[in-house]
Amino acid sequence: MRTHKCGELNTKQLGTTVTINGWVHRRRDHGGVIFIDLRDRAGLVQVVVDPDVADAFATAEHVRSEYVLEIEGLVRDRPAGTVNPNMVSGEIEILAKRIEVLNESETPPFPVESEIEVNEELRLKYRYIDLRRVVMQEKMKVRRDVTRVLRNFLDDNEFFEIETPYLTKATPEGARDYIVPSRTHENSFFALPQSPQLYKQILMVAGMDRYYQVVRCFRDEDLRADRQPEFTQLDIETSFMNEDEIMTIMEEMIRQLFAKVINVELDAKFPRMSYQEAVSKYGIDRPDLRIPLELVDIADDMKAVDFKVFSAPANDPKGRVVALRVPNGGEKLSRKDIDDLTKYVSIYGAKGLAYIKVNDLSAGIDGLQSPIVKFAPAEVWASVLAKTGAQNGDLIFFGADKATIVNEAMGALRVKLGHDLNLLEGEWKPVWVIDFPMFDWDEKSGRYNAIHHPFTAPSCSVDDLVANPGTALSRAYDLVLNGTEVGGGSIRINRPAMQSTVFEILGIGEEEAREKFGFLLDALKYGAPPHGGLAFGLDRLVMLMTGSTSIRDVIAFPKTQSAACPLVSAPAVVTDEQLKELGIRLIKPAGKEKS
Ligand code: AMO
Ligand code: AMP
Repeated sequence: MRTHKCGELNTKQLGTTVTINGWVHRRRDHGGVIFIDLRDRAGLVQVVVDPDVADAFATAEHVRSEYVLEIEGLVRDRPAGTVNPNMVSGEIEILAKRIEVLNESETPPFPVESEIEVNEELRLKYRYIDLRRVVMQEKMKVRRDVTRVLRNFLDDNEFFEIETPYLTKATPEGARDYIVPSRTHENSFFALPQSPQLYKQILMVAGMDRYYQVVRCFRDEDLRADRQPEFTQLDIETSFMNEDEIMTIMEEMIRQLFAKVINVELDAKFPRMSYQEAVSKYGIDRPDLRIPLELVDIADDMKAVDFKVFSAPANDPKGRVVALRVPNGGEKLSRKDIDDLTKYVSIYGAKGLAYIKVNDLSAGIDGLQSPIVKFAPAEVWASVLAKTGAQNGDLIFFGADKATIVNEAMGALRVKLGHDLNLLEGEWKPVWVIDFPMFDWDEKSGRYNAIHHPFTAPSCSVDDLVANPGTALSRAYDLVLNGTEVGGGSIRINRPAMQSTVFEILGIGEEEAREKFGFLLDALKYGAPPHGGLAFGLDRLVMLMTGSTSIRDVIAFPKTQSAACPLVSAPAVVTDEQLKELGIRLIKPAGKEKS
């Protein structure tokens, strides 16, 4: 059919006759001459149809947007003054000799333009139209480039791509499972994997040394802009490498990825930051380091002040009191802005948002403007100002409450101020977060939860772990980029005794551990090598690299916020026969006829 792609034509083909295929992007009738912009994946080209070519003209008269055409024509210069420097094909046009309609199209539900606001449900229902838009085609291209560069890197470094099953047993990654009934095993169900975690560890026991997989993971959890129920990981595992070696090779991979796909040179060495430092300075374990604002602990100053709001959490071991200095905030933020920010932090449970405007440092307490200055003596404020490095014109916000609330609220405030006041420094700020605690204590259930997953190795011995589970650190690492967790992993437990100990601390009894993970405990007995790895959220990486605000924009067929697919109308009811075959009776029958 075609000899060239529309968007690739340029002055090199001048004077030649070409055949192109594509969709009618636009048709304009200029009194006697018809212009058609024909579009394919490579871009657009302008076609001119003259009335002299009677057949072609007659056809062009009735083509409409999104008709599929074959056009044969002569490549010629555009007339002076009509050159479009924004298009690869902007210097030329095609003078049509023959036009054939390969297929017609109804009027599309929305125009195939990049800059349009269309309801997302509609976009997903007509995803084949939505994906024709240039912005979407570009995102799909970046996604293709990303997987290609990653695969090449891993192939060059002797990683084997190995597939692991989708019909499997639950893998605990903190979400609910999608389960699939088995027809051949009565009353039994498969779980779709939340990750290939256990298979990849078993591949290490099997001597595969270095593994990777571009793999779908399934998690039934509350959805957000950067979460999908079915998403893709670049999943990696290696034997005989420690965490430093793993982080180093992965950094190299990510650096190559950014350089090759979007021409960005990331720092030669990514900084590493302890979990403790991240939470203390930024209130969160995935800090956006582009924002130059930090939380400063001032509980020591507030223990004895005459202001319960501050003194109570300052004296509570689970409490936290912090200051957040906003340079020149006194001028940039009005009373109304501060009221709005107070409402904003209340979403995170903050009961208020105290502040001080620093008008004149040399005037001592008289140079400070705030309803709370009166609650503490001058030396307390002097100490707070010194700790935060305050300058004239600054605004200082305060958060005081349970540490969890202060971290969430003030961490979110920091990010919001960074964006609202245009404070971002640098475009790409990767950071490894390390030294996570092994467990956190869940008040409600009265037991420990694993911060990563239960297969993560602690950085201490079995005895130390049993003695101090609450303070033990793990050998886990997360890669955070601009405030998004793009990947995470750890050195794994490779001895059965340690694995059983961790299960015990998590309240997983011996019987339950055997039933759920007996295969792993067995495998660890047969010469399991030291191993570790990580998984990157491929969709999240592509989302960041394409500057998208939603993960759904970089997935060809994503699910909606309620985890449905409007294109094919999934999930859907199944027939009574299917249910019967599976031995399933619904509590609330769907009442649908047999199909
Ligand atoms: P984790 O659960 O941290 O680790 O997942 C790894 C990365 O996958 C991405 N991710 C998601 N992306 C989109 N939608 C989701 N619902 C979603 N959930 C996670 C994140 C995250 O960093 N088996 C371990 C890895 C390991 O230890 O090797 C795991 O799955 O970017
Ligand atoms: P009040 O004495 O309740 O009027 O509070 C005085 C100031 O402290 C107001 O600016 C409140 O917004 C602020 N405030 C109240 N509770 C907190 C809190 N938990 N953390 C930070 N500031 C608070």
